Amino acid sequence: MTTSKSPAPGTLAVWAGEESYLMQGATQVPVVHSVAFGYPDVDAWLAVAQGRTPGHIYSRNTNPTVHAFEEKVRQLEGAAAATSFASGMAAISNTLFTLLAPGDRVVSVKDTYGGTNKLFLEFLPRMHVECALCDTGDHEAIEAALKPGCQVLYLETPTNPTLKVIDIARLAAAAHAVGAIVVVDNTFATPLNQSPLALGADLVLHSATKFLGGHADALGGVICGAPELVARIYHYREITGAALDPMAAYLLLRGMKTLHLRIRQQNASAMQIAEFLQAHPVVTQVFYPGLPSHQHHEIARKQMRGFGGVLSFTLRGGFEAVRAVLPRLRYAHLAANLGAVETVVGPPATTSHVELNADERAAMGIPESLIRYSVGIEETADLLADLTQALDEIE
Ligand SMILES: Cc1ncc(COP(=O)(O)O)c(C=O)c1O
Repeated sequence: MTTSKSPAPGTLAVWAGEESYLMQGATQVPVVHSVAFGYPDVDAWLAVAQGRTPGHIYSRNTNPTVHAFEEKVRQLEGAAAATSFASGMAAISNTLFTLLAPGDRVVSVKDTYGGTNKLFLEFLPRMHVECALCDTGDHEAIEAALKPGCQVLYLETPTNPTLKVIDIARLAAAAHAVGAIVVVDNTFATPLNQSPLALGADLVLHSATKFLGGHADALGGVICGAPELVARIYHYREITGAALDPMAAYLLLRGMKTLHLRIRQQNASAMQIAEFLQAHPVVTQVFYPGLPSHQHHEIARKQMRGFGGVLSFTLRGGFEAVRAVLPRLRYAHLAANLGAVETVVGPPATTSHVELNADERAAMGIPESLIRYSVGIEETADLLADLTQALDEIE
């Protein structure tokens, strides 16, 4: 950007990262499908390969369209560096496999996204990495688990699907006191609602598949932080190969131009819907950090600028009620996704925690009667009317 005053996030969402790749007057970043980039002579080629001149060599490493996407997220997260991946899980696994080695210890919480949880339960222990998974709301337990020494504190907040909120600043301070690197999955909050790096995290990552892209038409992941850390993770990714495809990068870039408008609408709608559900007789519990009744509302108020577009709730009547209500919703996809322009709903057994069995979900405190409701950008009144007619059927 050429202006001296730092632009607001909404302006960054539109403009950041785009300018360097606009060609021949084009107003949009091109999709550069080229696998490799050619040079007139070996010296020019070497200068790029050795990092003395900016440029691209091979698209598993870097690519112009992909770089524009990384740059937009980097600026929105207020980070010095960013690199991207083929999916959110690629971002998470590449980060953990870069930072952890046999004999190391990672501290995290029980409520991480199901795929992340599998890394802690299955893949990292296989590499002889000890994974200490604490109760998500128990900050004292997490601090105690950090004390024996660990290399990484991995947090996700708000969590998927019960929307627990973790105090990033408090735990980042505790982790840094024992020399651990703090990683935060900011997928649910987005950079519009929460800035983990400003709260003390070292790395912030996203499943860009969700709110960043916002249109449920491209998979992607991204991580931002200090250049030395991001360079190590980039190196792991360039060798193991989970690169973001240029077409997906383009779709994510285009989606991000409306990020601030979507998040504004989704924050406001989710709040109204949470209040409506809380007062509904067939709803037994509502999980939304914006509700004053939410167990972590005060932490959310302290560290979030908005409470996000995802909420969840349980129904009287258990899983049978979930089975009855979901098909009655007219304005909701029954699908394993969230963060899209359309409302998307589902139970954890088929969405966030499909990788786990019922016992593992119960151990994580996830009720089988839970519905995760990811609010789209439809008019709030239509979503409320839709929920009313669907829930009234089971009264
Ligand atoms: C919080 C969170 N992190 C990471 C992921 C994984 O992202 P992806 O599906 O892009 O691999 C998800 C997917 O639902 C998620 O909800």
